[in-house]
Amino acid sequence: MGSGLGILGLVAVLSYLLGAVPFGLVITRMLGLGDLRQIGSGNIGATNVLRTGNKPAALATLLLDSGKGAIAVLLAREFAGEHAAIIAGGAAFIGHLYPIWLGFKGGKGVATFLGTMIALAWPLGLAACAVWLATAVVTRISSLSALVSAAATVPLAWVLGHPELMLLSAILAALIFWRHRSNIARIARGTEPKIGKKG
Ligand code: G3P
Repeated sequence: MGSGLGILGLVAVLSYLLGAVPFGLVITRMLGLGDLRQIGSGNIGATNVLRTGNKPAALATLLLDSGKGAIAVLLAREFAGEHAAIIAGGAAFIGHLYPIWLGFKGGKGVATFLGTMIALAWPLGLAACAVWLATAVVTRISSLSALVSAAATVPLAWVLGHPELMLLSAILAALIFWRHRSNIARIARGTEPKIGKKG
């Protein structure tokens, strides 16, 4: 019992530290694209990296930010089982939002959320990606696509036979909404920029 809790704690800490790696910042700095926190929305995610005009950098950020969530889940599942995988996904997501390396000021978690969900239950993760994509095709607004996708994941978890992921989905969706407060205000005012536009 005690050692089981110890292992879950270790999984949570290691997953948090992996999730806390701010790939968007690292990549834009390495490429000399400036400080991402002074560009566009100031967010450290792929949508804001795209505002630098460097599409490969945005794609790399998307893949690495989603990949860190997926890797945390897959490693935890391999070494400590399914409960640990769920904890790992949640911890990696929290790491992205509140990274120790950046004074706990991190991103909005969308890519890490999608990567985590794909690794936990790929049909659910792909369904969440499809909702993001469909909303983006219609609205061209990244934040709105993220909000619709995150909200849809909770009922989708039920519909696709993953009730054990509903609580995690609900908590992560609530945090995604919280982190998109300024986006929600801009969407309401009609001033949220379209994908790729500087605003
Ligand atoms: O994935 C982040 C996105 O939903 C919003 O990013 O930079 O437009 O605030 P941004």
